[in-house]
Amino acid sequence: DWTMDAYREQAIDAIRAQVGDAKVICALSGGVDSSVTAALLHEAIGDQLTCVFVDHGLLRLDEGVEVVEMFRDHMNLHVIHAEEQDLFLSELEGVSDPETKRKIIGRLFIDVFQKYANEIEGASYLAQGTLYPDVIESVSFSGGPSVTIKSHHNVGGLPEKMGLNLVEPLRELFKDEVRALGRELGLPAHFIARHPFPGPGLAIRCPGEITRAKLDILREADAVYIDQIRKHGLYDEIWQAFVAILPVRTVGVMGDGRTYDYACALRAVTSVDGMTADYYPFTHDFLGETATRIINEVPGINRVTYDITSKPPGTIEWE
Ligand code: XMP
Repeated sequence: DWTMDAYREQAIDAIRAQVGDAKVICALSGGVDSSVTAALLHEAIGDQLTCVFVDHGLLRLDEGVEVVEMFRDHMNLHVIHAEEQDLFLSELEGVSDPETKRKIIGRLFIDVFQKYANEIEGASYLAQGTLYPDVIESVSFSGGPSVTIKSHHNVGGLPEKMGLNLVEPLRELFKDEVRALGRELGLPAHFIARHPFPGPGLAIRCPGEITRAKLDILREADAVYIDQIRKHGLYDEIWQAFVAILPVRTVGVMGDGRTYDYACALRAVTSVDGMTADYYPFTHDFLGETATRIINEVPGINRVTYDITSKPPGTIEWE
């Protein structure tokens, strides 16, 4: 892609001109935006970049290890794996209100990031994967009346607090351009095409109280569901797909015994920008096969439902 090749060269020059020989830190989430930001900065300034990957214990199956291995071992980035699962999960204990969950996670994320960043001697820049739509959104929404449906957490406000300058090399790009740039930088195709994943992670796919046991069940069920979607060649047709574990147990029968396990809901939507969405029209065969697999392969779940709510009136996530 020649336009992205040109953009990449220009962006690299701009980064070098901006930061000189200063050190830069970057919060790497494994999402497309922060991944492309990190890869681009690495190409521009190499070892001057350190990434902090905050593991809050709310990631999908094997996700933490996969992200860290890819950036550290295959792309040679300096990545700090902040294993703070215990901190997040203990602070979330007994919390069931969605906004309270988001606020706790957002606050801890900033604390943790700051703690690790402070250990990096002499860092004076923070790299962020802000996209063009984020830039316009924050302008056009200011001043007007607004209703907060969900308070998304990010590291906003952090640069000032930590006395850091900002590097935002994706500020002029739309999502599809970021993906093209990622391919240009050699990030694996399956990585670039990944569905969006929210900052609070599985916390908002586990309505009600979060427990380690529920999170483990949820991770297993989600992995089976995504495997089904990939096997049927549907992954790229869907904007986002995931499982939510419901805060209710129901009675079932398996073999000649009674079961009393969690119910889960499958979610899959098509969307252009996440602002509105339609539920995905899976075939009954696909749904039946997936339900059977989840119940057979995931101990702890004995009932599977499919969420057929579009957005609006539903939101994509359950919380
Ligand atoms: P909703 O659930 O509001 O989601 O329809 C729209 C898109 O935003 C993602 N989402 C979040 N992303 N922090 C994030 O970084 C959040 O708190 C959050 N809540 C929702 C959601 O996954 C979907 O892509």
